[in-house]
Amino acid sequence: MKVYTTRIIPDAGIAILKNAGCEVVQHSESHDLLKEELIKICQDFDALLIAGHVKLDEEFFSKCQHLKAVSLLSVGYDNVDINAATKYKIPVGHTPDVLSGATADTAFLLMLAVSRKAFYMYDYIKQGKWNFYQPTANLGIELNNKVLGIFGLGRIGIELAKKAKGAYNMSIIYHNRKRNEEAERLPGARFVSFDELLQQSDILSVHANLSAETRGIFNKDAFAKMKPTSIFINTARGAMHNEQDLTEALQNGSIWGAGLDVTNPEPMSKNNVLLTMPTVCVLPHQGSATVETRSAMAKLAAENIVAIFEGKQMPHTVNKEVYAQ
Ligand code: DGY
Repeated sequence: MKVYTTRIIPDAGIAILKNAGCEVVQHSESHDLLKEELIKICQDFDALLIAGHVKLDEEFFSKCQHLKAVSLLSVGYDNVDINAATKYKIPVGHTPDVLSGATADTAFLLMLAVSRKAFYMYDYIKQGKWNFYQPTANLGIELNNKVLGIFGLGRIGIELAKKAKGAYNMSIIYHNRKRNEEAERLPGARFVSFDELLQQSDILSVHANLSAETRGIFNKDAFAKMKPTSIFINTARGAMHNEQDLTEALQNGSIWGAGLDVTNPEPMSKNNVLLTMPTVCVLPHQGSATVETRSAMAKLAAENIVAIFEGKQMPHTVNKEVYAQ
Protein backbone atom coordinates (compact mmCIF):
# COMPACT_ATOMS: atom_id res chain seq x y z
CA MET A 1 0.00 0.00 0.00
CA LYS A 2 1.31 3.43 -0.91
CA VAL A 3 0.74 6.57 1.17
CA TYR A 4 1.47 10.14 0.09
CA THR A 5 1.84 12.93 2.70
CA THR A 6 1.47 16.59 1.67
CA ARG A 7 3.96 17.67 4.36
CA ILE A 8 6.86 16.12 6.26
CA ILE A 9 5.14 14.63 9.31
CA PRO A 10 6.68 13.57 12.66
CA ASP A 11 8.58 10.26 12.62
CA ALA A 12 6.10 8.66 15.03
CA GLY A 13 3.51 8.61 12.24
CA ILE A 14 5.91 7.41 9.56
CA ALA A 15 7.02 4.53 11.81
CA ILE A 16 3.43 3.32 12.20
CA LEU A 17 2.84 3.40 8.45
CA LYS A 18 6.11 1.62 7.69
CA ASN A 19 5.60 -1.02 10.39
CA ALA A 20 2.28 -1.77 8.76
CA GLY A 21 4.12 -2.40 5.48
CA CYS A 22 3.21 0.85 3.73
CA GLU A 23 5.46 2.61 1.29
CA VAL A 24 5.50 6.33 2.19
CA VAL A 25 6.40 9.31 0.02
CA GLN A 26 6.42 12.78 1.59
CA HIS A 27 6.10 16.15 -0.17
CA SER A 28 9.20 17.84 1.19
CA GLU A 29 9.12 21.22 -0.57
CA SER A 30 8.02 24.39 1.28
CA HIS A 31 5.10 25.18 -0.99
CA ASP A 32 1.70 23.63 -1.53
CA LEU A 33 1.05 21.52 -4.58
CA LEU A 34 -1.49 22.81 -7.08
CA LYS A 35 -4.69 20.82 -7.18
CA GLU A 36 -3.84 19.36 -10.59
CA GLU A 37 -0.41 18.28 -9.34
CA LEU A 38 -1.89 16.58 -6.30
CA ILE A 39 -4.51 14.80 -8.40
CA LYS A 40 -1.78 13.54 -10.72
CA ILE A 41 0.42 12.33 -7.87
CA CYS A 42 -2.49 10.61 -6.10
CA GLN A 43 -3.06 8.34 -9.14
CA ASP A 44 -0.06 6.32 -7.91
CA PHE A 45 -1.12 6.14 -4.26
CA ASP A 46 -3.70 4.29 -2.18
CA ALA A 47 -4.05 6.81 0.66
CA LEU A 48 -3.41 10.49 1.21
CA LEU A 49 -2.30 12.06 4.49
CA ILE A 50 -2.87 15.81 4.37
CA ALA A 51 -1.60 18.70 6.46
CA GLY A 52 -1.55 22.43 5.80
CA HIS A 53 -3.66 24.47 3.44
CA VAL A 54 -4.47 21.71 0.96
CA LYS A 55 -8.06 21.91 -0.25
CA LEU A 56 -9.82 18.75 -1.40
CA ASP A 57 -12.98 19.52 -3.39
CA GLU A 58 -15.51 17.63 -5.50
CA GLU A 59 -13.19 17.66 -8.52
CA PHE A 60 -10.35 16.18 -6.47
CA PHE A 61 -12.52 13.33 -5.18
CA SER A 62 -14.09 12.65 -8.57
CA LYS A 63 -10.61 12.26 -10.06
CA CYS A 64 -9.19 10.28 -7.12
CA GLN A 65 -12.05 7.85 -6.50
CA HIS A 66 -9.56 5.02 -6.10
CA LEU A 67 -8.22 6.42 -2.80
CA LYS A 68 -8.95 4.09 0.10
CA ALA A 69 -8.41 6.73 2.76
CA VAL A 70 -7.83 10.42 3.28
CA SER A 71 -6.34 11.23 6.66
CA LEU A 72 -5.91 14.74 8.07
CA LEU A 73 -3.15 15.82 10.42
CA SER A 74 -5.62 18.18 12.11
CA VAL A 75 -8.86 18.15 14.01
CA GLY A 76 -10.46 20.72 11.69
CA TYR A 77 -11.64 19.47 8.30
CA ASP A 78 -13.15 22.61 6.75
CA ASN A 79 -10.65 22.32 3.87
CA VAL A 80 -12.19 19.02 2.75
CA ASP A 81 -15.51 18.62 0.94
CA ILE A 82 -16.81 15.87 3.21
CA ASN A 83 -19.99 15.35 1.17
CA ALA A 84 -17.89 14.70 -1.93
CA ALA A 85 -15.65 12.24 -0.05
CA THR A 86 -18.74 10.42 1.18
CA LYS A 87 -20.27 10.39 -2.30
CA TYR A 88 -17.17 8.58 -3.57
CA LYS A 89 -17.12 6.31 -0.48
CA ILE A 90 -13.77 7.57 0.76
CA PRO A 91 -13.34 7.63 4.55
CA VAL A 92 -11.86 10.86 5.93
CA GLY A 93 -10.02 10.72 9.25
CA HIS A 94 -8.92 13.49 11.62
CA THR A 95 -7.06 13.90 14.93
CA PRO A 96 -9.39 15.04 17.74
CA ASP A 97 -8.60 15.17 21.49
CA VAL A 98 -4.80 14.86 21.33
CA LEU A 99 -4.36 18.55 20.50
CA SER A 100 -6.90 19.98 22.94
CA GLY A 101 -4.40 20.73 25.73
CA ALA A 102 -1.79 22.36 23.46
CA THR A 103 -4.38 24.45 21.61
CA ALA A 104 -5.98 25.59 24.88
CA ASP A 105 -2.48 26.55 26.07
CA THR A 106 -2.09 28.73 22.99
CA ALA A 107 -5.39 30.50 23.71
CA PHE A 108 -4.30 30.95 27.33
CA LEU A 109 -0.90 32.28 26.24
CA LEU A 110 -2.54 34.81 23.89
CA MET A 111 -5.04 35.89 26.54
CA LEU A 112 -2.25 36.62 29.02
CA ALA A 113 0.12 38.10 26.44
CA VAL A 114 -2.53 40.52 25.14
CA SER A 115 -3.60 41.52 28.64
CA ARG A 116 -0.01 42.66 29.36
CA LYS A 117 0.90 43.86 25.81
CA ALA A 118 3.71 41.31 25.86
CA PHE A 119 4.55 40.99 22.15
CA TYR A 120 4.48 44.76 21.67
CA MET A 121 6.75 45.35 24.68
CA TYR A 122 9.20 42.73 23.39
CA ASP A 123 9.38 44.62 20.11
CA TYR A 124 9.73 47.89 22.02
CA ILE A 125 12.93 46.62 23.67
CA LYS A 126 14.24 45.34 20.33
CA GLN A 127 13.73 48.83 18.90
CA GLY A 128 15.86 50.34 21.69
CA LYS A 129 12.91 52.20 23.24
CA TRP A 130 13.38 50.92 26.82
CA ASN A 131 14.95 53.99 28.41
CA PHE A 132 12.68 55.95 30.78
CA TYR A 133 10.45 54.38 33.48
CA GLN A 134 7.02 55.92 33.41
CA PRO A 135 4.60 54.44 36.03
CA THR A 136 1.52 55.29 33.99
CA ALA A 137 2.75 53.93 30.66
CA ASN A 138 2.13 50.57 29.01
CA LEU A 139 -0.35 49.33 31.58
CA GLY A 140 -2.14 46.06 31.00
CA ILE A 141 -5.29 44.66 32.56
CA GLU A 142 -5.61 41.76 34.99
CA LEU A 143 -7.45 38.52 34.40
CA ASN A 144 -8.38 37.68 37.99
CA ASN A 145 -12.10 37.06 38.49
CA LYS A 146 -12.93 38.16 34.93
CA VAL A 147 -15.56 36.55 32.71
CA LEU A 148 -14.26 34.14 30.07
CA GLY A 149 -16.74 33.68 27.23
CA ILE A 150 -16.23 30.66 25.01
CA PHE A 151 -17.76 30.46 21.57
CA GLY A 152 -18.01 26.75 20.73
CA LEU A 153 -17.41 24.94 24.00
CA GLY A 154 -16.07 21.51 23.05
CA ARG A 155 -12.90 19.64 23.95
CA ILE A 156 -10.50 22.59 23.48
CA GLY A 157 -12.82 25.12 25.12
CA ILE A 158 -13.25 22.87 28.16
CA GLU A 159 -9.46 22.63 28.56
CA LEU A 160 -9.18 26.43 28.38
CA ALA A 161 -12.04 26.89 30.84
CA LYS A 162 -10.33 24.61 33.38
CA LYS A 163 -7.03 26.49 33.06
CA ALA A 164 -8.70 29.91 33.34
CA LYS A 165 -10.73 28.82 36.36
CA GLY A 166 -7.67 27.33 38.09
CA ALA A 167 -5.29 30.20 37.35
CA TYR A 168 -7.57 33.23 37.62
CA ASN A 169 -10.85 32.06 39.13
CA MET A 170 -12.57 33.26 35.97
CA SER A 171 -16.32 32.76 35.53
CA ILE A 172 -17.17 30.76 32.44
CA ILE A 173 -20.00 31.52 30.05
CA TYR A 174 -20.40 29.85 26.67
CA HIS A 175 -22.47 29.78 23.54
CA ASN A 176 -22.95 26.67 21.41
CA ARG A 177 -25.62 25.65 18.94
CA LYS A 178 -26.95 23.52 21.80
CA ARG A 179 -26.01 23.08 25.45
CA ASN A 180 -22.95 20.95 26.18
CA GLU A 181 -23.75 18.60 29.07
CA GLU A 182 -20.09 17.89 29.87
CA ALA A 183 -19.51 21.63 29.99
CA GLU A 184 -22.36 22.08 32.42
CA ARG A 185 -20.30 19.99 34.87
CA LEU A 186 -17.53 22.62 34.83
CA PRO A 187 -18.00 24.60 38.01
CA GLY A 188 -20.13 27.59 37.14
CA ALA A 189 -20.17 27.23 33.32
CA ARG A 190 -23.29 28.96 32.10
CA PHE A 191 -24.96 28.74 28.68
CA VAL A 192 -25.84 32.16 27.22
CA SER A 193 -27.18 33.51 23.93
CA PHE A 194 -24.68 34.78 21.34
CA ASP A 195 -25.56 38.40 22.17
CA GLU A 196 -25.10 37.77 25.90
CA LEU A 197 -21.73 36.17 25.17
CA LEU A 198 -20.66 39.31 23.30
CA GLN A 199 -22.00 41.67 25.93
CA GLN A 200 -20.77 39.88 29.07
CA SER A 201 -17.34 38.46 28.16
CA ASP A 202 -14.15 40.16 29.38
CA ILE A 203 -12.22 37.65 27.28
CA LEU A 204 -14.03 36.04 24.33
CA SER A 205 -12.28 32.96 22.97
CA VAL A 206 -13.35 31.22 19.75
CA HIS A 207 -13.28 27.40 19.62
CA ALA A 208 -16.09 26.50 17.22
CA ASN A 209 -15.77 24.64 13.92
CA LEU A 210 -15.78 26.70 10.76
CA SER A 211 -19.12 26.20 9.01
CA ALA A 212 -21.57 28.19 6.89
CA GLU A 213 -23.13 29.35 10.18
CA THR A 214 -19.91 30.50 11.86
CA ARG A 215 -18.05 31.96 8.85
CA GLY A 216 -17.62 35.70 9.42
CA ILE A 217 -19.77 35.66 12.57
CA PHE A 218 -17.37 38.00 14.39
CA ASN A 219 -18.06 41.09 12.32
CA LYS A 220 -18.66 44.78 12.87
CA ASP A 221 -22.04 44.19 14.54
CA ALA A 222 -20.61 41.55 16.88
CA PHE A 223 -17.58 43.64 17.91
CA ALA A 224 -19.84 46.65 18.51
CA LYS A 225 -21.72 44.63 21.16
CA MET A 226 -18.55 43.72 23.10
CA LYS A 227 -17.18 45.60 26.11
CA PRO A 228 -14.61 48.34 25.32
CA THR A 229 -12.31 46.61 27.85
CA SER A 230 -12.67 43.14 26.27
CA ILE A 231 -10.14 40.89 24.53
CA PHE A 232 -10.99 38.77 21.48
CA ILE A 233 -9.04 35.51 21.07
CA ASN A 234 -9.21 33.27 18.00
CA THR A 235 -7.29 29.97 17.87
CA ALA A 236 -9.90 28.17 15.75
CA ARG A 237 -10.20 29.46 12.16
CA GLY A 238 -9.45 32.93 10.84
CA ALA A 239 -12.47 32.87 8.55
CA MET A 240 -14.73 33.18 11.60
CA HIS A 241 -13.68 36.81 12.08
CA ASN A 242 -13.78 39.66 9.59
CA GLU A 243 -10.25 41.04 9.94
CA GLN A 244 -11.08 44.50 8.64
CA ASP A 245 -13.96 44.78 11.13
CA LEU A 246 -11.69 43.50 13.90
CA THR A 247 -9.04 46.10 13.01
CA GLU A 248 -11.63 48.89 13.07
CA ALA A 249 -13.09 47.64 16.37
CA LEU A 250 -9.61 47.88 17.90
CA GLN A 251 -8.96 51.28 16.34
CA ASN A 252 -12.27 52.80 17.46
CA GLY A 253 -12.12 51.27 20.93
CA SER A 254 -15.11 48.90 20.61
CA ILE A 255 -12.78 46.25 22.07
CA TRP A 256 -9.46 46.56 23.94
CA GLY A 257 -7.28 43.82 22.46
CA ALA A 258 -6.99 40.72 20.31
CA GLY A 259 -4.94 37.53 20.30
CA LEU A 260 -4.90 35.58 17.05
CA ASP A 261 -3.35 32.22 16.29
CA VAL A 262 -5.37 32.15 13.10
CA THR A 263 -5.78 35.05 10.69
CA ASN A 264 -7.94 35.94 7.73
CA PRO A 265 -6.29 35.41 5.30
CA GLU A 266 -3.33 33.17 6.19
CA PRO A 267 -0.48 33.82 6.13
CA MET A 268 -0.88 37.36 7.50
CA SER A 269 1.06 40.05 5.63
CA LYS A 270 4.01 41.52 7.53
CA ASN A 271 2.54 44.96 6.77
CA ASN A 272 -0.75 44.25 8.53
CA VAL A 273 -1.61 47.14 10.84
CA LEU A 274 -2.66 44.68 13.56
CA LEU A 275 1.04 43.85 14.03
CA THR A 276 1.72 47.43 15.13
CA MET A 277 -0.93 47.58 17.85
CA PRO A 278 0.15 47.35 21.51
CA THR A 279 -2.82 45.21 22.52
CA VAL A 280 -2.61 42.70 19.67
CA CYS A 281 -0.61 39.46 19.69
CA VAL A 282 -0.47 37.25 16.60
CA LEU A 283 0.96 33.75 16.14
CA PRO A 284 1.28 31.87 12.82
CA HIS A 285 -1.40 29.14 13.29
CA GLN A 286 0.63 26.96 15.62
CA GLY A 287 -1.88 26.07 18.31
CA SER A 288 -0.93 22.40 18.35
CA ALA A 289 2.78 22.92 17.70
CA THR A 290 4.49 21.01 20.49
CA VAL A 291 6.74 17.97 20.06
CA GLU A 292 4.35 15.84 22.10
CA THR A 293 1.13 16.92 20.41
CA ARG A 294 2.39 16.85 16.84
CA SER A 295 3.75 13.31 17.42
CA ALA A 296 0.42 12.23 18.88
CA MET A 297 -1.39 13.75 15.88
CA ALA A 298 0.93 12.00 13.44
CA LYS A 299 0.30 8.67 15.19
CA LEU A 300 -3.47 9.11 15.01
CA ALA A 301 -3.35 10.17 11.37
CA ALA A 302 -1.23 7.10 10.53
CA GLU A 303 -3.46 4.77 12.57
CA ASN A 304 -6.49 6.06 10.67
CA ILE A 305 -4.86 4.91 7.41
CA VAL A 306 -3.54 1.60 8.72
CA ALA A 307 -6.99 0.70 10.07
CA ILE A 308 -8.48 1.00 6.57
CA PHE A 309 -5.67 -1.07 5.02
CA GLU A 310 -6.43 -3.73 7.64
CA GLY A 311 -10.11 -3.78 6.68
CA LYS A 312 -11.25 -1.95 9.83
CA GLN A 313 -12.87 1.43 10.44
CA MET A 314 -10.68 4.45 11.16
CA PRO A 315 -10.53 5.15 14.91
CA HIS A 316 -11.49 8.79 14.14
CA THR A 317 -13.66 9.08 11.04
CA VAL A 318 -15.36 12.33 10.06
CA ASN A 319 -17.83 10.73 7.60
CA LYS A 320 -18.88 7.49 9.35
CA GLU A 321 -21.70 7.11 6.78
CA VAL A 322 -19.16 5.65 4.34
CA TYR A 323 -19.02 2.43 6.36
CA ALA A 324 -22.76 1.89 5.97
CA GLN A 325 -22.58 2.25 2.17
C1 DGY B 1 -6.32 21.75 13.49
O1 DGY B 1 -5.96 20.67 13.99
O2 DGY B 1 -7.43 21.89 12.99
C2 DGY B 1 -5.31 22.85 13.51
O3 DGY B 1 -5.90 24.09 13.38
C3 DGY B 1 -4.30 22.64 12.39
O4 DGY B 1 -4.87 23.02 11.19
